[in-house]
Parts: sequence; structure tokens; C-alpha cells
Amino acid sequence: MEIKRPSDSITTMTNLVMPNDANIVGNLFGGKLMEWMDICGALSAARHSKNVCVTASVNNISFAKPIHLGETVTLVARVVRAFNTSMEVYIEVYAENIKKGTKRKCNDAYFTYVAVDENYQTVKVPAIQPLSEEEQELFELSLLRRQLKLLMAEKITLKDAPELRAQMVEWMETSKG
Ligand SMILES: CC(C)(COP(=O)(O)OP(=O)(O)OC[C@H]1O[C@@H](n2cnc3c(N)ncnc32)[C@H](O)[C@@H]1OP(=O)(O)O)[C@@H](O)C(=O)NCCC(=O)NCCS
Repeated sequence: MEIKRPSDSITTMTNLVMPNDANIVGNLFGGKLMEWMDICGALSAARHSKNVCVTASVNNISFAKPIHLGETVTLVARVVRAFNTSMEVYIEVYAENIKKGTKRKCNDAYFTYVAVDENYQTVKVPAIQPLSEEEQELFELSLLRRQLKLLMAEKITLKDAPELRAQMVEWMETSKG
């Protein structure tokens, strides 16, 4: 089976926040941003798997910093880990005010996609080989996020998630001081 790097799947997308994308105080709608993230993430997963990819789940997304009407929004997506037929894609969102020359990171999220063929059958995807320290860290934590997502979707039980269980024990021990 082919092995790929996260950088092979990097996909970027830039949009301008138009009046139709914003609420009455001139901030980009959260739903519109999620739509753009989903498209960018799906393209990254498709680039990795060379197949159509459907969204299986999304982790927590918060909107801490508003993005304003007239700003540009750049999304950067890459596959951080591939499992059997599913892939986790990390998506970062940057807003830029071109006139002022300012740029800031606004959001990030982890989306899970599943590769499917023309008959909507799930397809095995190439593995990911992390190389840099950052890629390695995202890769390792991806397993915990996968177990948490599958647990919340009631697809597995805690006994099928030994790494997540061990991490939870560690967090509890740490919080005791
Ligand atoms: C995603 C989908 C193809 C998975 O189908 P399924 O019958 O659950 O298939 P499986 O149980 O064989 O799972 C397939 C893969 O999806 C993963 N998966 C399923 N549900 C998941 C979830 N909630 N979170 C993360 N991964 C999930 C499984 O772990 C498996 O990955 P693996 O092969 O790498 O181990 C199916 O649920 C689907 O078609 N959903 C709708 C997709 C869609 O329309 N998305 C747009 C939202 S409107």
C-alpha cells in the first residue's frame, strides 16, 4: 500500500467575505465558514485518496474571533492521518484585511472523511507517514480524536479505545495534582 506525507495533500482555498456571507453586524456566518472548511477538507482528502470523499464527522469548532465583511478568508487543509477507509484532515482558517495588511488565524478543526467509489462503497486509502515533529504530534493525537468521535457516535465502546482510556486516566491523575 502506498504511503504519503501530509504535505502531499495540502489544499488551500481563498474566499472574499461578501454581503451575502455576513450577518447584520457584518461578521461572516459560522455556517458559511463551516461550508468552506468542509469543501477545502474534502478536496484535501480527495487529493490524498484519489477518490470522492464524504464527511463522516467534525470535531468541536469555536468562533472566538469574528471575520469581517470585505476580509479574505484562506483555508489550509491537510490529511494528518489515514486509517482504513477514513482520513482525518486538519483545517486552519486565516482572515486577512488586505487594505490594512493584517492577517490572523481565526479557527481550526479536524474533519473526518471517508473515501467512496462510484458505487458508494468505502475504499481503502493510502497511509500517512509523518516526518516533522509537528506532523508526528498531530498523527499521534489523531488516534485519540478518532476513538472519541467513534465513541460519541456509539460505533465503539471504551473497551475498544485503550489509548483514549489511558489518556483519560493520565488527565485525571494530573488534575488531582
Ligand atoms: C461516512 C459513511 C460512509 C460511513 O459509513 P458506515 O456504514 O458507518 O461505514 P463503516 O462503519 O464501514 O465506517 C467506514 C469508516 O468511517 C469511519 N466512521 C464512521 N463514522 C464515523 C464517525 N462518526 N467519526 C469518525 N469516523 C467515522 C469508520 O471508523 C470507518 O473508518 P475506517 O475504515 O478508517 O476504520 C456513512 O455514514 C455515510 O454515508 N454518511 C453520510 C456522509 C455524508 O453525506 N456526509 C455529508 C453530511 S450531510
